[in-house]
Amino acid sequence: MPRVGELSGPLVGCFHWTLLSQDYRQDGMGTRDVTCHAGARCFVLAVTKEEDMDKDAIAVQGLRKTYPGGVEAVKGINFDVDAGEVFGLLGPNGAGKSTTIGMLTTTIVPTSGTARLSGFDVVTEPIAARAASSVVFQEQVLDRSLTGRRNLATHARLWGLAPGLASTRIEQTAGPFGLAELLDRPVAGYSGGERRRLEIARALLSQPRVLFLDEPTVGLDPRIRFELLDLIAGLRERGQMTIMLTTHYLDEAERLCDRVGIVHEGRIVALDTPPALLAGLGREIVEVRVRGNGPAGLARMRANGVAGTDAFSVGSTITIPVHDAPGSVVIAAVDTLGIAVDVISTRAPTLDDVYLRLTGTRLAVA
Ligand SMILES: Nc1ncnc2c1ncn2[C@@H]1O[C@H](COP(=O)(O)OP(=O)(O)O)[C@@H](O)[C@H]1O
Ligand SMILES: [Mg+2]
Repeated sequence: MPRVGELSGPLVGCFHWTLLSQDYRQDGMGTRDVTCHAGARCFVLAVTKEEDMDKDAIAVQGLRKTYPGGVEAVKGINFDVDAGEVFGLLGPNGAGKSTTIGMLTTTIVPTSGTARLSGFDVVTEPIAARAASSVVFQEQVLDRSLTGRRNLATHARLWGLAPGLASTRIEQTAGPFGLAELLDRPVAGYSGGERRRLEIARALLSQPRVLFLDEPTVGLDPRIRFELLDLIAGLRERGQMTIMLTTHYLDEAERLCDRVGIVHEGRIVALDTPPALLAGLGREIVEVRVRGNGPAGLARMRANGVAGTDAFSVGSTITIPVHDAPGSVVIAAVDTLGIAVDVISTRAPTLDDVYLRLTGTRLAVA
């Protein structure tokens, strides 16, 4: 059954694609995937079958990528993302996040496994899969010599948007993205944060069902980063758009994402909502840096009932999840054991603790 095809002859509105098959919806999300110019030949980029409308926005099964030369960047990952969900991949540099985004956006061919976007297989139906999504890559791909407006307009043309529609969308997007004053200046003069905003605005011109953001705030100074986080958080309000982002910032994942997959060396080692990921770590963490041997100190704490089975040690640092008693009670109990302690403190658990427990390294320094 054709999903992607070429139509010729005068096209009225967006509806000629229905000629392809009776199975396709004639309204709703289906129509906006079709690009046509009256009287022009036209590609149907993507249409959505009735039965696909309820499917996951992203469905990944056993996805792997081994680069030529043997680097196993992604080692068989599985996840599904619902329509309208914000899903994050959290992991350090080199974990395989960008490779995953590359496979989902059809720029990298998977070694094995499958991935579907809005029901379209990224390998066997790449044009349709691409048409359903937009991506902001980690590396900037703006034309710096052109103005912001020209960058947006060129992108809109590549997507086949009629010039009038493109101008309307550019104007509509510029305001909320704080770009109105900048649009007619060359991108070379934009700050890092302004360029990122322009890139996200550009990705939204095609009104994607799935938006990919690969490390959207990397390299920005903290204030600009927080502004951009607000902007990304605001994207949630935009209808049923699904967002998948990657990050190595814990706060970003916790703040923006409905669910987070923690990625370590090409594998997803945990996947859940941030509260569920943190729940296993109790209300508070007591962190103890001992002077001697971490595992020995931990064994002693466990033997005395000061630490439970969910406590763990990495090097000389012992992490004790505290579930019931206040952290101060645990600190006092540690004191009574006569273990030589360098530093002892309490704090709220973070996803870094989840990562540390699962991998033995800290995300922040990994
Ligand atoms: N084109 C490539 N050829 C070979 N190895 C690559 C290529 N791109 C990435 N890698 C390697 O794959 C691993 C995962 O990289 P990447 O997906 O960029 O991770 P992340 O985005 O999480 O930092 C790293 O070891 C990286 O060096
Ligand atoms: Mg990356």
